[in-house]
Amino acid sequence: MKTALIIGISGQDGSYLAEYLLEAGYAVHGLVRRASMFNRSRIDHLRLATAEHQDRLFLHYGDLVDVTSLRRTLKKIAPHEVYHLAGQSHVGLSFEIPEVTCQENGMATLGLIEILRDLDSPVRLYNASSSEIFGAPPASPQNEETSMNPVNPYGCAKAFGTQLCRVYRQSYGLFVCNGIAYNHESPRRGENFVTRKISLGAARIKLGQQTVLELGNLDARRDWGYAPEYVNAMWLMLQAETPRDYVLATGGTCSIRDFAIAAFDELRLGLRFEGRGVDEIGRRTDTGEVVVRVAARYFRPAESLELVGDASLVRQTLGWTPKITGSGLARLMAKADFELLAADL
Ligand code: NAP
Ligand code: GDD
Repeated sequence: MKTALIIGISGQDGSYLAEYLLEAGYAVHGLVRRASMFNRSRIDHLRLATAEHQDRLFLHYGDLVDVTSLRRTLKKIAPHEVYHLAGQSHVGLSFEIPEVTCQENGMATLGLIEILRDLDSPVRLYNASSSEIFGAPPASPQNEETSMNPVNPYGCAKAFGTQLCRVYRQSYGLFVCNGIAYNHESPRRGENFVTRKISLGAARIKLGQQTVLELGNLDARRDWGYAPEYVNAMWLMLQAETPRDYVLATGGTCSIRDFAIAAFDELRLGLRFEGRGVDEIGRRTDTGEVVVRVAARYFRPAESLELVGDASLVRQTLGWTPKITGSGLARLMAKADFELLAADL
């Protein structure tokens, strides 16, 4: 039986990957950190007494920045594969807490690959890199050869971690792959990322629990895919004969405005945009018009340019092609949040 360690198992990607690996027959270990409340809601369905795979799922307390416990856990488990999906993942917040962002996304990655270098048996590592390493790129779409030019603390930290993984692969022959992933979303997305804020906002407004949705830059565009499809690519990367970096992207973009329109339309709600520099869009609705207000506090000191990925390499080499994108994703998420909240009622 293969053994995997997921660092960041309680996060969006970690939870889908845990499901995927359990289904594939792995013993799955996950690192969780201590919080004042339990932070395992995304994996509870895998852990409960009746869960099908619970005898192959093991959780360990630890923290990315507690290198001693990380080393001890890795030595004890001796995993075949490690998926490094942990760290402060919010770009906007990285301007407010830059040091912890760089510690967790930069230095901790270095700490981890140093531990792996010292282990007795070879380990394969997936490192969660990001399209934010490109920031303001010289070319569009971006691929594995595009130079890094991050424009926020999060992107800088990810660039540092990504390059060190390359250096350790070249210098010490470690089996390390960077997944240079573009935005991927799901009903398990954190509530302060824009897609989930929109889908939850739409569901709450539909149910009469909220009246207005406040957003920042509506004209920003993202290359949005569906998280469960992306964890499949992570696994494929570690099954390949040789380690390399891959761009994981859909190749298309959608604006925040269009994502919101699609999500609200799924619940048969129309939108009117109000605020700084926005057009008004009036539409027929069954409950009257909903207001999206543009609020200055959600704008960032600097915004990445339109990032769009060229995923030809992973398509040709590993046969990975994402299917769910932009407005289809918005509809899927709005429907899921509506069903979730309606069931609670
Ligand atoms: P997420 O939902 O924010 O999950 C982050 C995970 O990291 C959580 O399990 C969190 O634990 C854990 N974590 C944070 N700080 C930690 C620390 N100091 N020690 C141990 N664990 C810690 O992020 P995600 O969307 O799943 O993304 C996974 C990774 O891919 C992240 O590194 C992210 O930066 C990167 N990435 C994501 C995307 C995307 O679009 N989703 C795109 C490119 C790259 P708690 O549950 O305790 O907070
Ligand atoms: N969070 C947020 N909240 N973003 C908003 C809002 C709002 O109210 N209004 C507009 N936006 C815009 C942001 O300015 C940004 O341009 C875009 O929506 C997406 O923001 P996020 O959903 O916070 O995601 P992100 O693109 O900054 O970062 C995500 O994707 C990266 C990959 O490109 C995260 O998952 C990162 O961890 C990941 O690396």
